[in-house]
Amino acid sequence: MDKLVIEGGKPLSGTIVIQGAKNAALPILAASMLVEGKVTIDHVPKLLDIDVMLNILRELGCRAEHEDETVQLDTSTLHSSHIPEALMRQMRSSIFLMGPLLARFGEVTIYQPGGCAIGERKIDLHLSGLQALGAEIEEDGSRIACYAKKLRGAEIHLDFPSVGATENIMMAAVLAEGLTTISNAAREPEIQDLQHFLNRMGAKIIGAGTDTITVEGVEKLEPCSYQVIPDRIVTGTVMVAAAATRGQVTLLNTCPSHLTSLIHVLRRTGVQIAVDGDIIKVGAAMRPKSIDRIVTSPYPAFPTDLQSQIMVLLALADGVSVMKETIFEGRFKHVDELARMGADIRVDLSSAFIRGVSRLYGATVEATDLRAGAALVIAGLAAQGKTVVEQVHHIDRGYDRIEAMFGRLGARMTRFTPIANNTVVP
Ligand code: EPZ
Repeated sequence: MDKLVIEGGKPLSGTIVIQGAKNAALPILAASMLVEGKVTIDHVPKLLDIDVMLNILRELGCRAEHEDETVQLDTSTLHSSHIPEALMRQMRSSIFLMGPLLARFGEVTIYQPGGCAIGERKIDLHLSGLQALGAEIEEDGSRIACYAKKLRGAEIHLDFPSVGATENIMMAAVLAEGLTTISNAAREPEIQDLQHFLNRMGAKIIGAGTDTITVEGVEKLEPCSYQVIPDRIVTGTVMVAAAATRGQVTLLNTCPSHLTSLIHVLRRTGVQIAVDGDIIKVGAAMRPKSIDRIVTSPYPAFPTDLQSQIMVLLALADGVSVMKETIFEGRFKHVDELARMGADIRVDLSSAFIRGVSRLYGATVEATDLRAGAALVIAGLAAQGKTVVEQVHHIDRGYDRIEAMFGRLGARMTRFTPIANNTVVP
């Protein structure tokens, strides 16, 4: 398992171009299965999660190439809608394939994706949404078989604005007979990107980005080319790292409007943020101020995917901050690792009480999940001394060579890969 060795204490500085959004690319790759032919998707970063999704599509018979951030798909040879359990377990986002494969083949077999480090990750809203569209679902242990001769439009209300369930239902509804409305839909920018992609293929969807999405079923879709939006969570991760190291960083190819809640919080800590089109400039020279209370909630509120990262900045702030996590029940696993670096954080159920300290110290820490790992990298960049981050594969799921990304901003960060005889090579 790879490790990252970070020499901390150096302010980040320079300019960086932000990668395409993992959480937009994954559903868009799945949605490509709705159409027969060649689909080209640009701005798709090289990530473990993208690799897993492309391997699943190949397993189902699709041709898939990924070169220089461009994915070329040929779905005309797609011949199966049975997703192997081993591949499902590698990445829970394979659940996004349910809607498209059911719509295309009239049947799909998946396996319970199971929970992960951050929580139970139920899929009941996905299944009930597909049932509302006319699907029959048979569960046999972890195996879930889904059938529908013809999907029919329906009025669907989500008890919780689930991102994945909203996307799965949208994708299943585009070829259904009649009108589908999804109320209490998730409003994330990635859902708007999915709507734009599906409409480019000839779908008739309106409302993505609001809490009510309407889909008018069509007979057929046509292949297209598309470019994915920038990754707002990677953008936010770099912004927080710039602030935590008291650096000066310019971020290019961003969507500032996707980050209003983070920009608001960073400004409250005293960080200077300037926005000009798709450019964000971040500057910090002083110790950050604490924030009384931050609550993670569905978009456009403060995103759960930036909770662990902002906690590192608050761990260095002058005062006490309170962070409440309302989306995932297990998303504080980075706290113990930060404590090993000198952070003073107490967790009580879904709240973390963060008493800022003047500095963090390098230590050997372990990434437990994707965003917790990113937070530990930020902590290593800000800390005095050397930090070793282990289990880096979690980070590689969402960041394209994070050591190169931060290296472009002057970070002293090296990846070590163990080889057979247990020595390591940079
Ligand atoms: C998406 O996950 C993102 N992943 C997550 O990003 C993100 O944290 C999450 O949305 C929330 O914004 C992708 O887009 C690939 P949800 P998703 O369905 O769709 C409960 C990252 O770091 N729920 O909105 O799985 C669920 O248990 C990842 O990039 C049900 O109860 O999120 C959770 O508590 C992590 N039943 C809450 O809703 C369901 O059927 C949010 O889940 C579905 C979800």
